[in-house]
Amino acid sequence: MPIEVLMKQDYAYLELEAWLYAQLQMGRWQVGERLPSVRHLCREKRLSKATVIHAYQRLEAQGRIEARPRSGYFVCDLPVSVLDISVSESTAIPGPVPVNSSELLTDIMLQGAAFDLLPGGQTSPFSTGLMLLNRSIGRALRQSRGTAHLCYEEPAGYLPLRQTLAQRYQRDACQVGAEQFCITSGCQNALFLALKACCRPGDLVAIEDPGFYGVIQLLEQLQLKAVQIPVHTQTGMDLNALERALQHWPIRACVVTPCFATPSGSLMPESHQRRLIDLANRYEITLIEDDIYRELSFTGRLSPLKALDEQDRVILCGSYSKTLSRDLRLGWVLSKRWHKRIVYLKLITQLASSHFVQQGLNDYLISGDYDRYLRQRISELYHQVQAWMQALRSRWSEHIHFDVPQGGLCIWIEWLQPIDTLALYTSALRRGVAITPGPLFSISGDFHQALRLSFAQPCSLAHQSALDCLQLLMDQQSGQRG
Ligand SMILES: Cc1ncc(COP(=O)(O)O)c(C=O)c1O
Repeated sequence: MPIEVLMKQDYAYLELEAWLYAQLQMGRWQVGERLPSVRHLCREKRLSKATVIHAYQRLEAQGRIEARPRSGYFVCDLPVSVLDISVSESTAIPGPVPVNSSELLTDIMLQGAAFDLLPGGQTSPFSTGLMLLNRSIGRALRQSRGTAHLCYEEPAGYLPLRQTLAQRYQRDACQVGAEQFCITSGCQNALFLALKACCRPGDLVAIEDPGFYGVIQLLEQLQLKAVQIPVHTQTGMDLNALERALQHWPIRACVVTPCFATPSGSLMPESHQRRLIDLANRYEITLIEDDIYRELSFTGRLSPLKALDEQDRVILCGSYSKTLSRDLRLGWVLSKRWHKRIVYLKLITQLASSHFVQQGLNDYLISGDYDRYLRQRISELYHQVQAWMQALRSRWSEHIHFDVPQGGLCIWIEWLQPIDTLALYTSALRRGVAITPGPLFSISGDFHQALRLSFAQPCSLAHQSALDCLQLLMDQQSGQRG
């Protein structure tokens, strides 16, 4: 159904505003570019002139666009915060904010963070690759009987595993050695250690908006203040906005996911990555790279941001939770500059990591079983995402926007008409369907019209029924509003 049919008169200006807003977020028009004329939009969307002007004026009031006499409407420079926009140099950039994550976020995380629309309902077939991993760990456990239980592993982690990780990163163009790695309990723990190592309470940290909710929670716990930087769904963190924030605020660190950021799925082009490193060097900030999704690329192996890091500004955090198993609880922090402090922090918070899990994983990696499994998993995910996209298009066609994922595990779906995914979360959960609503990914609680969908599971008939249920609930929500 075309967008104009769906627009009821009372809401037409709001719906047009939402559509224009989503297009701006997606970077359809560049800064300084002229937007479609009022006449063009009236014709294309079959709306009155007053409706189109009303929508444009609302975006103008938010600072997203500006009217130029007798020329039309033009896109403004992107804001640091989506809510408060700095249009000109004289306008103050909205300040850093203390972080209060919601109870709802904890609730959703307890539901398994909606990595599946049907939490607990589905089981994936247990692949040979995972069976081999179990065997490796089992073998390591049997071998370690009688010795490992008597002592703690070195706090930085099992050296052969760190050597293997270093070799894998060297293969991806990073000049790093085993002595720069510290093994952690997953990537969330790695992010915690990285932030704790380079920041003090009260420091300012630039984060992606929308971005990973786990980072929002860490900032809250570490009493760090957030400076929210908008994300383009295709190219990732807006570096113009970051640069302006760096000019205005004494930012200490910036958390960024260059490859397949969650929830946007964005992939930062290499030219942007170079500029990001350049900004970090110029403003002397630490970049904390979340590298958890990089290996799940549909277009061949990618290098991390760390590969461009000549001045040792990047602390890289990774894990095998997304590529292999969440249950391994095995990740790493990679940094030369901060290594000693990170290992100390690990020592006082965890003492050590499990020896046999590390040894088993290392055996699995060096046998080539991991790479074989990864290739198969990527091909599986590629086919799964095609099925999910088809299921979405057949239900919502042009009422939604999403970028076709180039890798990772999620699709960020934005509805073009006003819906409230936060309200939908509760009603869907009552019917056994778990969604991850957009506002979860932002401190300002924006992105009500968006949600993150995981394609880690096949799009089964049961999942399609879950989508039908969501469609029904959304229709009910629109009906109530109308
Ligand atoms: C972007 C991102 N970083 C880190 C994590 C945490 O990963 P782990 O399970 O390795 O702690 C997640 C998990 O959802 C994630 O999506």
